[in-house]
Amino acid sequence: MQSTYLPPSAFSARAAIPDMDAYHALCAHAERDYEGYWGMQARANLDWQVPFTRVLDESEAPFYRWFGDGRLNVSYNCLDRHIERGLGGKTAIIFEADDGAFSHVTYSGLHARVCRIANGLRARGVGKGDRVVIYMAMSVEGVAAMLACARIGATHSVVFGGFSAKALQERIADAGACVVITQDEQLRGGKRLPLKSIVDEALALGGCGSVKHVVVYQRTGGGVTHVSDRDIWLHDLMADQPERCEPEWVGAEHPLFILYTSGSTGTPKGVQHASGGYLLWAALTMKWTFDIKPDDVYWCTADIGWVTGHSYIAYGPTAVGATQVIFEGVPTYPDAGRFWQTIERHGVSIFYTAPTAIRSLIKASDMDPAVHPTNYDLSTLRLLGSVGEPINPEAWLWYHRQVGGERCPVVDTFWQTETGGHMITPLPGATPLVPGSCTLALPGIMAAVVDEAGQDVPDGQGGILVVKRPWPSMIRTIWNNPKRYQASYFPEELGGALYLAGDGAIRDKDTGYFTITGRIDDVLNVSGHRMGTMEIESALVAHPLVAEAAVVGKPDDTTGESICAFVVLKKDRPGGADATALAQELRNWVAKEIGPIAKPREVRFGDNLPKTRSGKIMRRLLRVLAQGGVVTQDVSTLENPAILDQLAKAV
Ligand code: WTA
Repeated sequence: MQSTYLPPSAFSARAAIPDMDAYHALCAHAERDYEGYWGMQARANLDWQVPFTRVLDESEAPFYRWFGDGRLNVSYNCLDRHIERGLGGKTAIIFEADDGAFSHVTYSGLHARVCRIANGLRARGVGKGDRVVIYMAMSVEGVAAMLACARIGATHSVVFGGFSAKALQERIADAGACVVITQDEQLRGGKRLPLKSIVDEALALGGCGSVKHVVVYQRTGGGVTHVSDRDIWLHDLMADQPERCEPEWVGAEHPLFILYTSGSTGTPKGVQHASGGYLLWAALTMKWTFDIKPDDVYWCTADIGWVTGHSYIAYGPTAVGATQVIFEGVPTYPDAGRFWQTIERHGVSIFYTAPTAIRSLIKASDMDPAVHPTNYDLSTLRLLGSVGEPINPEAWLWYHRQVGGERCPVVDTFWQTETGGHMITPLPGATPLVPGSCTLALPGIMAAVVDEAGQDVPDGQGGILVVKRPWPSMIRTIWNNPKRYQASYFPEELGGALYLAGDGAIRDKDTGYFTITGRIDDVLNVSGHRMGTMEIESALVAHPLVAEAAVVGKPDDTTGESICAFVVLKKDRPGGADATALAQELRNWVAKEIGPIAKPREVRFGDNLPKTRSGKIMRRLLRVLAQGGVVTQDVSTLENPAILDQLAKAV
């Protein structure tokens, strides 16, 4: 039996879900009366301008509709309703800049900023259903821009500031955005990195004719080119705009945002989320998973470019009127004690970060004891969270002991861009914790493990993770591609009615706890960033010297996985210094095509790739080679077994 960690009784005493009985009661309610359960939650957690009369419409499954005839405004729920209840003076955001300067913004202050941006956008013709791409770093303005879009019913698509001009251009073109909101430069670890000039480059690549305006937030004052009639400073857009803005009341199914994410095939998918169901789950999981209380100081270290920054920075914390830290910088600047120093400085009580960050800070504090968390006063912490990839028990234990002082529950939250919010996670006041397991599905989330035919497998036997019933915050479709939505998430092989997460899982025989065993498709997870092998392969093949490429993941102690690329050139296979130089060139090429996060750690050259006689690349063999292993599997179906020796050698 693994060791379990029980919730501290003082924590449970105040918790939203105080024990397993309360958890099971909620689950039973959902089982008994699914629509009644969700309808009750949607009424209790959101303010509706027009109440819904129908909870779930399955008539066009898997294109589900939730609370379809209800009307609301997301920014109203995230701002106005708190102010109306007397919380206008409460701090909404503590902004901690890269250089350590910080400032507080109240709910009233954030509301005024959001309204002025919303009015400025409206004045330029942006309205309901228009798409706005946001290409910004972590800032109050970035979050305000998202909420401003929500206020006027525009659908935003945030593109992570680390993506290249080409990746940005593809997303702008696919979304058909009419406005791009960006900033002159971003500050990371004391360095200035361009953003506006990358937007210029992206638009110059073509296909972005829909873009009428580029709005630029002045962050550093670094010089930028100004295209008259197209470009406008954010402060000019906001100037003279009133601090009030009538919200655009939208139907619950109105698309709040599109967020591009990687799948196993093809180009990134524009995951489309609705307004009502999405916000409901962002708010409710803040209360359940994070047990958020009025006096908490909450800090999620994610970026608004990823879904965690949507649900657990821009929308969840504001929907519940919480105070949160928004951090511009990086965990290692000015030193690897930055997270701990920031927790101490602002009295953070709930801290949510990624296993990669934890593992790299473990390493850093092993090398330099001065940045070890125990050097800081972390006594305000009461809850820790983890997201984005499996957390290994060693990292979990270190987080629990060294950061949480053994008094803070650790919630290992499993979810995805497509799920909108947490799916399988401990409840901090109720669930006995087992390091390495994300434990149980939240009440109302019908998660299960099935075999390749969609049949339930017994606990203790691994299989495919699915969700059996639709839930309010689920993906609604893939933007511009409903067929791909249906094929990717509700595949015929599983019967067409199960949501396929794309991860493998196993449930414990005794506890029923889920452990995620990793992706079952060709999606990689590097430092919690999700990437498709196909995307990286396409980028490599776009290089003039590359004939063919195959990319696999290789386990890595810090980043979870690293990228290993096997490349066949149009010319002879290089050796020695030539190979090293070309490998470096290809790495930089991928950074330019997609972004630095997609750079292969390793590039190996071969005269060919291992293929079956029918021409299929045998990736499982490449995975073995990438790990430095010897192929012991049956290679009799292989066209060219000799190639394995060649590819076994690193450059
Ligand atoms: C992985 C991030 C294990 C998983 C919120 C999933 C996890 C993918 C966990 C989604 C976790 C996320 N334990 N694996 N707690 N959280 N994953 O869309 O493979 O960027 O399918 O959403 O990350 O990544 P995405």
